[in-house]
Amino acid sequence: MKFFVDTADVEAIAELNDLGMVDGVTTNPSLILKSGRDIIEVTKEICSIVSGPVSAEVVALKAEDMIAEGRKLAEIAPNIAVKVPLTWDGLKTCKVLSGEGKMVNVTLCFSANQALLAAKAGATFISPFIGRLDDINLDGLELISDIREIYDNYGFETQILAASIRTANHVTQCALIGADVMTAPPAVIKAMASHVLTDKGLDQFMKDWAKTGQKII
Ligand code: E4P
Repeated sequence: MKFFVDTADVEAIAELNDLGMVDGVTTNPSLILKSGRDIIEVTKEICSIVSGPVSAEVVALKAEDMIAEGRKLAEIAPNIAVKVPLTWDGLKTCKVLSGEGKMVNVTLCFSANQALLAAKAGATFISPFIGRLDDINLDGLELISDIREIYDNYGFETQILAASIRTANHVTQCALIGADVMTAPPAVIKAMASHVLTDKGLDQFMKDWAKTGQKII
C-alpha cells in the first residue's frame, strides 16, 4: 500500500519523506488555510520534495472553471494530481483532464456508486472519506471494501485512495481490505510506530542494562 501524507506542512512532509514514508501528498483548501501559505507557492515547494503524486484541489464549482483551474494547477509540476470534488461538474472535469493525460484525484466520495462514476470518468484516484462517514455513524471501512470489490469485478484501474483516516487502526484495516493508497495526517503515520508493549519492553531493557554497569560506546 502506498502512503500519501495528508498535509500542506512542508517540514512534516520533509521529515517523513527522509524516512521513505511518503509516496505522495494530498492537500485540500482546509489544509492550505492551515498552512497559512499561498497555494501555488506551497504546492511548488511540496513538489520539489516529493516525486510521487501531489494532489492540489480546484475550488471552482462549474466544470468550465474547474478545468481552467486544474490546468493551471497542473502547470506547477509534472507530478500534480488535480483534485476535483465528486459532483457532476467534477466528473466532467475529470473526463477532460484525464483525457489530456493529467492525473486526477476525485475527492469527497461517500458511496460506491460515486466511485463507479469516477472510475468511468477516468479518475487516477478515488478518495473515499472513511472518518467523515464514521463521524455520522456509517461504516467508512465497509465503503472501501465495497469499492475494492466493484473495481476488481470489472478491472477498473482507478486507484482506491483511502482518505479521512483518523487512526492507525484505519490504516491496518485499509491495508487488509486492499486499498491501493492511504492518505493520513503525519500524526497518524507516527502513531503507527507506537505499541504499549514496545514501551514496556524498552523500559525493562533499560533498567536491566543500567544494572550491568556496561557501556557500548
Ligand atoms: C483527503 O484527500 C482529504 O484531504 C482528507 O483525508 C480529509 O480528511 P478529514 O476528513 O480528516 O478532514
